[in-house]
Amino acid sequence: MEISIDIRNKSFAKGQRVMTVLDDIHLDIDNGEFITIIGPSGCGKSTLLKIIAGLDSDYEGSVQIGKRAVNRPGIEQGFVFQEHRLFPWLTVEENIAGNLPLKKAAIRKKVDELIDIVRLRGFAKAYPKELSGGMSQRVAIARALLRKPGVLLLDEPFGALDAFTRRHLQEVLLQIWLETETTMILVTHDLDESVYLGNRVVVMGTHPGRIQRLIRIDLPFPRQRTHPSFQKIRQNVLQEFESADEFSLVRQQNQ
Ligand SMILES: Nc1ncnc2c1ncn2[C@@H]1O[C@H](COP(=O)(O)OP(=O)(O)OP(=O)(O)O)[C@@H](O)[C@H]1O
Ligand SMILES: [Mg+2]
Repeated sequence: MEISIDIRNKSFAKGQRVMTVLDDIHLDIDNGEFITIIGPSGCGKSTLLKIIAGLDSDYEGSVQIGKRAVNRPGIEQGFVFQEHRLFPWLTVEENIAGNLPLKKAAIRKKVDELIDIVRLRGFAKAYPKELSGGMSQRVAIARALLRKPGVLLLDEPFGALDAFTRRHLQEVLLQIWLETETTMILVTHDLDESVYLGNRVVVMGTHPGRIQRLIRIDLPFPRQRTHPSFQKIRQNVLQEFESADEFSLVRQQNQ
């Protein structure tokens, strides 16, 4: 689904003071677009994602998904958090089904399909403690996909994983995106990941959080990380990222 973000101001109270976290974030996202967001720690990426998810409506401005103004969580938005948050006392299939009855044939079928999509066949009856971090994260993705959300919001979903597992899950996510029409918004601190997956990369700046640059990536999927044009775009994004980061050593050396 298409998304229209028009956030004029988002602030938090810090003791007696008010701290502006997001300032003038305007972004229109097409149906089926893959947006990646990268930016320094504390620039407001998670805050932005929570607003789009409808988990935070205390801000000036508006966010629209399709025709609906977002002010609470809805079936349009699926959310995958950085920590997977599975229920330890439920099996993989029960975690995916959530509060929907697995006994119903239609639900059963969907859950089985999702288990295949995230490549967890054979683990339907396993408990979270029997899974690796990457497997748990795949369960979380499957759970978010169950209600066929028009929008999937992912907040550093692979942040805690090793490079190998991370790459594997990038492939899984790419495949899901290519097979469905889901609009994706993925927050990451991995530059490579932002360029590998995004139709557009949003580079955010800090104090207050704002959009510093939007970089369109016209490379076809699946992308070749070693290709010179990939490397060139990666370099562009890196430069923007460095100039957005107040703590950047590279930037300080160049000043
Ligand atoms: N509930 C809250 N109450 C007060 N301040 C908050 C709250 N949530 C976030 N903040 C502040 O808002 C700013 C942005 O936080 P946010 O979590 O959105 O950053 P982020 O870009 O996701 O950072 P990271 O990359 O470290 O996850 C920070 O300064 C943080 O202290
Ligand atoms: Mg965050």
